[in-house]
Amino acid sequence: MCGIVGYIGKRKAVEVILKGLSHLEYRGYDSAGVALMAKDKINIYKAAGKLNNLKEIISKQNEADINTHAGIGHTRWATHGMPSEINAHPHTCNCKSLVIVHNGIIENYKDLKPVLEKKGSKFKSETDTEVAAHLIAYEFEEKKDLLKAVQSAVKKLKGAYAFSVMHKTMPDRIIAARKNAPLIIGVGEGENFIASDIPAVIEYTKKAIYLSDNQVAEIKADSVKIYDENDNLIQNKVECLPFEPVALSKMGYKHYMLKEIHEQPDVVRNILTDKLKNKDAEVVLDDVKLTREQLKKINRIQIIACGTSLHAGLVGKYVIEELAKIPTDVEASSEYIYRNTIADENTLVIGISQSGETADTITAIKQAKAKNSHIAIITNRKDSAMARLADSLLPINAGIEVSVAATKSYIAQLLSLYLLAIYLAENTNKTSSKELSEIKKELLSLPSKLEIILNDTKKVQEISKKYSNSKDFIFIARGINYPSALEGALKLKEISYINATGYPAGELKHGPIAMLDNTMPVLAILNKGTVYDKILSNCEEAKARQARLIGVTNLIDEKHKNLFDDLILIPEISDMVSPALNITVLQLLAYHISEYLGKDVDQPRNLAKSVTVE
Ligand code: G6P
Repeated sequence: MCGIVGYIGKRKAVEVILKGLSHLEYRGYDSAGVALMAKDKINIYKAAGKLNNLKEIISKQNEADINTHAGIGHTRWATHGMPSEINAHPHTCNCKSLVIVHNGIIENYKDLKPVLEKKGSKFKSETDTEVAAHLIAYEFEEKKDLLKAVQSAVKKLKGAYAFSVMHKTMPDRIIAARKNAPLIIGVGEGENFIASDIPAVIEYTKKAIYLSDNQVAEIKADSVKIYDENDNLIQNKVECLPFEPVALSKMGYKHYMLKEIHEQPDVVRNILTDKLKNKDAEVVLDDVKLTREQLKKINRIQIIACGTSLHAGLVGKYVIEELAKIPTDVEASSEYIYRNTIADENTLVIGISQSGETADTITAIKQAKAKNSHIAIITNRKDSAMARLADSLLPINAGIEVSVAATKSYIAQLLSLYLLAIYLAENTNKTSSKELSEIKKELLSLPSKLEIILNDTKKVQEISKKYSNSKDFIFIARGINYPSALEGALKLKEISYINATGYPAGELKHGPIAMLDNTMPVLAILNKGTVYDKILSNCEEAKARQARLIGVTNLIDEKHKNLFDDLILIPEISDMVSPALNITVLQLLAYHISEYLGKDVDQPRNLAKSVTVE
C-alpha cells in the first residue's frame, strides 16, 4: 500500500507525478504529498485527505516554485501515525536537504529513533519513514554521495520498503530502493520514471525495469544504474509493460466498480475462449506445470489468500473436493504464516491474489515453497512479486481492476478454480466425464446468464434503496454458497460501512438468531440443490423472529410467497456454478446501497486495494 511516483526529465515533474498518483490512489488515499527539486532547494507540498486536496494546494503556488523537472510524490495508507498533513510523505531530515517517499514498514524504527535522536535528530511525525530520512541524511554527511548513503542506510533497516530519495546538492538524480515492496522504473528517452505500479507510467512509456529485492538504483534523466545488495553494478532486463492506457477509463459508468461488475460476462468469456472449447472438450491448462505423474501424487491442497481472494478460495475447496476428490484446506495467509503448517512435495499450494502483491500471501507462499510444495499462483498480475514465485502461473486476465472493492477479479478467480478443479479431475480420473461435461456446459452458459442479470438491475436497485438505512445486515447460505454469503457481506461492509456478516444458514440458530428483530435484514441465497429445503427452514426460523427476509434464488416456488419480503430471481444454474451468478447480485446490492448512502464507492475509507504490509 501507499503509492510512489518519481520523475526526472524534460517534462514538468509535478504534472507527471500528480497524474501518476491519481492512478495509484487505489493503494491508499488518506493523504498525499510531493517534493519538487527547485534551484538550490526542494519544495515540499503535502495535504491530508484525497489527492484533490494536494492538487488544490499546488494550484495556488508560484509557477517558479513548481515548474521543475525532477520530483517525487506519494499517496498514503497510514500504518504508523494517523492520516494528517504532518504524517504525509515526503519526509525530510533536520536541514531539509533530503526528501524521501516510502511504501512499507521499517520494523526497527523504534530501535533506530533514539540512536538518531542522540545524534541530534528532531522528529516531527509519528511515522517510521521519517527515521529512514534521518538515517540516510547522516550517511550522506559521511559519504557525500546519495547512492552510497542509501546503500549504506538500507543495510541498517529491517522490514519492507520501496523508497525514492532526493538530495538538494545532487539535483540530477533520484535514488530508488526496494525490499518486499513493489517498485518499477519506467524507462523513457531522456527521461525516467519511478512508480509503485504500471498505471502511473504507462501513458509515457511501455518499457520498464522491475527492481528486485535489495537492489538500489540511481536514476538520472538519461541513465539508470542498478546495484545489487553487495553494491555491484548489475544489468536488469528492460521489460515491455502489459497494459493499454484505455483500460483506466470509466467508459461512461459512474464508478469503476459498476463498470467492472458489467465487464464480468466478457471476463468469463475471455477465460473460457482458450481453455474450454465446448462441453465435451478437455480443459486446456498449459499453465499447470505438474507432470501427470506428479499430479497423481498430489495428496493435499492448501489454498492461501486474503479478503475477497480468500472467499474465492473457499468456493475452490468445494469444487476441488467434489470433482478432484483431493483434501483441500483454505486459510487466510496471515494465519498460515504463524504456525507449523504441514506441507511437502506432494502438496499443491495455491496462492490467490488479485494484485499479486499482498504481503501476507507472499510470505505464506515463501513458507510453502521452502517445504518444496508445488506453488500455483492465481493472479490478475502476471508481472507481480507473487507471480515470480510460481511454479505454475495461472493468470486470470480480468484486466486492470481500479475499484478498491474487488468484483470482476473475484469471478475470474472462481472461473480459474473451476477450470483447475476440472483439470485435476480429468488428470486423475476422479469424476466421470459425463458429470464433468454437465459442469462445463453450465460454465459455458455463464456469460449469457450474467448478462441477463446485468441487463435488468431494477429490482436490485429497488431493494437497495429500501434497505439502505439498515444498521446491520445478515447474509446466509449453505454449502458452496456459504462463501458467497461471506463475500456479499464483505462487499457491503467495505463500501457502505453497514455492519454485515455472512453465516452458514444452519449456524443462525446457534447464536446469531439472537440479533433478529423486525429491523434486521436477512439475505438468504437459495439455490435449487441438496441444501435448498434446509435453507428454506432456516429462512422460516428467521421469519418467525420477524426478520426482514430477502431471497436470492433461481427457483420459482409457491413457498416463497408468504416468506420473503423481497425476492430476486436469477437464471437457472446448477448449485456448483451458482456462486458466480449469486455474487453478481450481491455486488450490485452493495454498490447501489453505497450509492444511495452517498459513500465513496471506488475509494472507501480506511482501505487500500493492494496491501503490501503484513
Ligand atoms: C485488500 C483489499 C481487498 C482484497 C485483499 C486481498 O484488503 O482491500 O479487496 O481482497 O486486499 O488482495 P489480493 O490482491 O491479494 O487479492
